Amino acid sequence: MSGKPVILVGRKLPAAVEARLMRDYEAILNPDDKLYTSEEIIEISERVDAILPCHSEHLSADVIGKLSDRVKAIANFSVGYDHVDIEAAKKRGIIVTNTPDVLSDATAEIAILLMLAAARRASEGDRLVRSAGWKDWSPSFMVGTQVTGKRFGVIGMGRVGQVAARRARGFDMDIHYYNRKKLDPALEQGATFHADVDDLLVHADFLSIHCPATDETRGLLNAERIAKMPEGAIVVNTSRGAVVDDEALIAALKSGKIAAAGLDVFNGEPENIHPGYRALDNVFLLPHIGSATRETRDGMGFRALDNLDAIFAGKEPKDRVA
Ligand code: DGY
Repeated sequence: MSGKPVILVGRKLPAAVEARLMRDYEAILNPDDKLYTSEEIIEISERVDAILPCHSEHLSADVIGKLSDRVKAIANFSVGYDHVDIEAAKKRGIIVTNTPDVLSDATAEIAILLMLAAARRASEGDRLVRSAGWKDWSPSFMVGTQVTGKRFGVIGMGRVGQVAARRARGFDMDIHYYNRKKLDPALEQGATFHADVDDLLVHADFLSIHCPATDETRGLLNAERIAKMPEGAIVVNTSRGAVVDDEALIAALKSGKIAAAGLDVFNGEPENIHPGYRALDNVFLLPHIGSATRETRDGMGFRALDNLDAIFAGKEPKDRVA
């Protein structure tokens, strides 16, 4: 390769990340932050050595199959990589990386925010005050669920799940988790492991979902599993909408089986989320902002660039997923 590698940058990135990109690469930046279509990505791929996408760009098997042979790597600006068809990338010999670690704190913060907001009816309260609908106070007014001392169930005790559990301990919560593998006691910090997700659900007064969206986890929280949860449990999701069966969760939120939910991620996001959520009072909804802090956005960008640097130096990138 003569000259600097050319990188297609999917979205507008933090200034410091773009400055490093411009210094070390020939970067095709996206100052207007417009979402590229698949056709545009395929067309531009003729001129680039790597793509740096976010989870908003869907690199399906079809798109990956049509990328130019010049593309050597897809360095994601995200920890989740369900938007990239990994098998198709492997077939094409395209290296794929992600950005773990750097967003664990920010995402766990949002999980705790969602938990508290759902338990204490934050959206309802906020709307009441804003709409001038708040007329009275009484002991029965806006009574929610206390968090302190309850059981915090985690599906997926990876990096984010572990930080969320640590934060939940600040509320004296008793931590239970389901994970593919039991953690070392040093990482478990006294949490109770359940080898079967259904066993975990029985103990989850609060359920926080932190597993990736894969063929195994798609629709994992379905009607059958929700039925196993304690009456009036609360569900929090900061991972991917695909892990939840929306019809089942909405039905449980309507019946009161699930008292409330705090959701940052959705099937069909951003525009085609299940309309049933919008009509419910007992949900606190955020637009996929788990990792949206200045510190974390920089961290994600630098981590993606560290991976690209390794790839173009002929080394193994730290965060290779394909
Ligand atoms: C991630 O990194 O996977 C977050 O969901 C933002 O894309």
